[in-house]
Amino acid sequence: MTLLSGKVLFEVANEYNFAIGAFNFNNLEFLNAILEAAEEEEAPVFVQTTESAIRYAGIDFLSGMVHAVKDRYKVPFALHLDHGKHLETILLAIRHGYTSVMIDYSDKPYEENLKITKEVVSLCAPLGISVEAELGRLEGVEDNVVSRESVLVDPLQAKEFVDKTGVDALAPAIGTAHGAFKFKGEPKLDFERLKKVKELTNVALVLHGASGVYTEYLETINAYGGDIKGARGVPDEDIKKAVELGINKVNTDTDLRLAFIATLRKLMAEEKKVIDPRKLLKPAMEEVKKVVKRRIRLYGSQGKAELFRKYL
Ligand code: G3H
Ligand code: 13P
Ligand code: ZN
Repeated sequence: MTLLSGKVLFEVANEYNFAIGAFNFNNLEFLNAILEAAEEEEAPVFVQTTESAIRYAGIDFLSGMVHAVKDRYKVPFALHLDHGKHLETILLAIRHGYTSVMIDYSDKPYEENLKITKEVVSLCAPLGISVEAELGRLEGVEDNVVSRESVLVDPLQAKEFVDKTGVDALAPAIGTAHGAFKFKGEPKLDFERLKKVKELTNVALVLHGASGVYTEYLETINAYGGDIKGARGVPDEDIKKAVELGINKVNTDTDLRLAFIATLRKLMAEEKKVIDPRKLLKPAMEEVKKVVKRRIRLYGSQGKAELFRKYL
């Protein structure tokens, strides 16, 4: 049994200054790829589902898969709710054995974010479930008509937020964005801001919208009938720097999607006689696994499972 509270994962990563990969899944193939990769890399890991993943597959299906296979693995991992936008989803996640949740009111006024986050912490803390919240906004930084400043996290506000809510982890907006199109020009992360947030809060920090959007997958997708030209991600060096400055959980979804779709597109074009979905899904799953391993190494969590021995 290695399914642990996110609290343990956040605490250990913060204490030893590394980041744990948090990977999104909607189906068996992604979950399998993530856990197998983590096991081979001896790395702790978060497996996480969004509300739209829950709408797609059903929370009983997603959490059921995790609980069914948890004893196969020796590495410590947490089942996390990513971007929980509603209190009802938090309650649903608690009932389905999630060991960590994110309450995301980052698009609402600060006071509302503070209030709901406090409420979620008071619900989850007695159950040993960790809580992540977000400050600042990720989307539309480049298109923002007001100013970059207004959507990025305010370090002083972050300190007040962490003190007042008692969250286990905070996701500060520092210039990343979700999806495959993160930057119009050069990638620009606000490392100074990140440094200040860490100094003031000393809480575990989470980087969302962190995918690298690797060229090899873009090229394959575009070569085999796809059209995602101009996509751009966060360079690996920026991820390394963010981890050095205090990021302890890095969220990755897009990179897994790109690897999966690139493999499927190529195989569908080349293997014209195949009608057994497993012949397509297995190689796609293997490619996702490769990306998870690559990301785990980038975050510095390879081999870190041993730090959790006393919790297992
Ligand atoms: O924010 C996380 C995801 O990359 C978006 O996931 O399509 O499951 O909502 P979703
Ligand atoms: P990417 O779209 O960069 O993979 O970000 C995923 C994420 O932040 C999930 O919460
Ligand atoms: Zn996110």
